[in-house]
Order: sequence, then structure tokens, then C-alpha cells
Amino acid sequence: MRPYVILNAAMTLDGKIATATGSSNISGEEDLKRVHEIRKDCDGIMVGIGTVLADDPRLTVHKINARPEDNPVRVVVDSKCRTPIDARITNSDAKTIIACANEYKDEFVKTEKYETFKKRGVKFMWCGDKRVDLSLLMSYLHEEGIDKLMLEGGSTLNFSMIKAGLIDEISICIAPMVVGGANAKTFFDGEGFDTMDESVKLELIDSFSLGKDLILRYKVLK
Ligand SMILES: NC(=O)c1ccc[n+]([C@@H]2O[C@H](COP(=O)([O-])OP(=O)(O)OC[C@H]3O[C@@H](n4cnc5c(N)ncnc54)[C@H](OP(=O)(O)O)[C@@H]3O)[C@@H](O)[C@H]2O)c1
Repeated sequence: MRPYVILNAAMTLDGKIATATGSSNISGEEDLKRVHEIRKDCDGIMVGIGTVLADDPRLTVHKINARPEDNPVRVVVDSKCRTPIDARITNSDAKTIIACANEYKDEFVKTEKYETFKKRGVKFMWCGDKRVDLSLLMSYLHEEGIDKLMLEGGSTLNFSMIKAGLIDEISICIAPMVVGGANAKTFFDGEGFDTMDESVKLELIDSFSLGKDLILRYKVLK
């Protein structure tokens, strides 16, 4: 058993979710409110360590009216336990789970950083040998009571999740901007597929304008 997973992101018309220098404020104010409604409706929200290092997100519900208990459990996919000690995702606003790989466990549990995180209530899940095993993590999160999980990037984790068949729904905000850049992050990066035949197929289930942005919602076909 695993959670129902909704991937949400904002991209420019040319498919970039950040520039090569890490600038990533793409959504308009109305889209941010829509994103925070999804956060409020989910039990968990997950990002990769690349996103934590680049953006230092809080991943709480703060753009709409919400109570502290509306914040989803925050999950970082971080094989090598690189989450910084002062990362905002580990603050006391909501629960936090850091998923790491077994190879790094013995060294990490001896560190002061581990003790500080534990005192702060951060929970660790050890899944996978050298890299986080996403299927295993999904089953652990389900056992933890997470039935609906929002995935908020970045590009590398998005690709691993969709390749593993772990995404059920995609909602994307397309902003009327073009930023270019061969090294800018796209919606899905990772190793990619070799042929279009291998691509993950989607079905459009909704589309609407929100301010200047266009929102598309897709079901992932299995
Ligand atoms: N516009 C948007 O909507 C939006 C949303 C989110 C992020 N972003 C942007 O996305 C960029 C970050 O993307 P990113 O691709 O660099 O990082 P990422 O996808 O956030 O994190 C990738 C990292 O996750 C870790 N990981 C552990 N297990 C994994 C697995 N099984 N599969 C994949 N990754 C795994 C890997 O590091 P370890 O091996 O060390 O664990 C990997 O390098 C930032 O620039 C951010 O601004 C944009």
C-alpha cells in the first residue's frame, strides 16, 4: 500500500522550473494560493534534498487561512543526510521526516546534527542501500498514516518518482515566461527515457486560467 501522490510544480512556457542560478519564483499569487490549498488537503508533502539546498522551503500552509494542524508532514528525500541543521523544513511549524539510505546510517547517528534533529522531533526513515528506495519509502509513509502525498520537486526526484510508477496525478502551472538555458532545471530531468514509446502517458483531466497563468491537471495512466 502507498499514498495517492499528486505532483505539483510551476514552470515557464519552455518547461523550466528554475534557472541555472537557482531563481525559481514562477507562480503568480493566485497560483500560490491554489498550491497552498493542495498542501492543506494532503497529509504529507515531499521534496528532494536538491530543493532543500536550493530554496530552503518551509513547506507549510501560509498563503491561505490555516491552522497549525493543517500543515502536512514534511518529507525530505536525502540519501546522504545532507539536510542542513538550520533548514526551515525542520522547524517546529510541522512534523518532519528525513528519508536516508542505510549506507550512511552508522556514521550519521553518531553526529551532533543527528542528536539536534532528534531533540527537535525530526523522524528518520532508513530505506534503500545507497540511495533512497522510493517504493519502500512510500510504503513507510503509508504506514505513518499518509494517505495523500503532495510531491513538490525538484526535477531529479520528479523523474525517479514517475519512472517508478509512484505518481497518480500531475498539476502544473505554466507561467507566460520564457527563460531558456540548457542548464536550467526542467519539470522532469533525471536520466530520461531513450524513446517516446517508453514515455509515461497522461490524460488531461482539467485546464483553466488563473490570473496570467495556465493550470493543467493530468491523470497518470498506468
Ligand atoms: N518551480 C517549481 O515548481 C519547483 C519546485 C521544486 C523545486 N524546484 C527547483 O528544482 C531544483 C532542485 O531540483 P534537483 O533536481 O536539483 O533536486 P531534487 O529533485 O529536489 O533532489 C534530488 C536529490 O534527491 C536525492 N535522492 C535520493 N534518493 C533519490 C531517488 N531515488 N531518486 C531521485 N533523487 C533521489 C538525490 O540526492 P542524494 O543522493 O544526495 O540523496 C538527488 O540528487 C531547484 O532549483 C528548485 O528551485 C522548482
